[in-house]
Amino acid sequence: MVISMGSDHAGFEQKEQLKAYLQQQGHTVLDRGCDSADRVDYPDFALPVAQDVAAGEAERGVLVCGTGIGMALAADKVAGVRAANIITPQFAALCREHNDANVITLSGRFVSFETNCEILDAFLSTEFGGGRHAGRVEKIMSLD
Ligand code: RB5
Repeated sequence: MVISMGSDHAGFEQKEQLKAYLQQQGHTVLDRGCDSADRVDYPDFALPVAQDVAAGEAERGVLVCGTGIGMALAADKVAGVRAANIITPQFAALCREHNDANVITLSGRFVSFETNCEILDAFLSTEFGGGRHAGRVEKIMSLD
């Protein structure tokens, strides 16, 4: 799968670790920065990842900041993106099954690398459930 990734300074270390984790699994990662732990603004990195997903350049997006909250708020401004801020593997599965999330935003400061790996496993392996959820997602997308 082609996955677009980005972070700010607070998510940089885990973005690098999670990128390696995904590449080891055979995924192709488009790394949209940042490239160091120097302080930056998270919307500058949410935007290119969201645009990759919206344009179909990447099937999924992964964003990491301190909490994941700012990245979700920014990415969800881009039409076609359904970004969810996730801190447990169970919610990662549910954001796919119920919400067809195509971007996940993670916390680099409050969630361990090991848990974020489990979250990504669930996010990447869970299919959208469709059915009763499909019309709800269509209603979300009609807000774009
Ligand atoms: C940066 O200090 C922090 O605000 C950012 O990484 C993120 O947590 C925002 O939501």
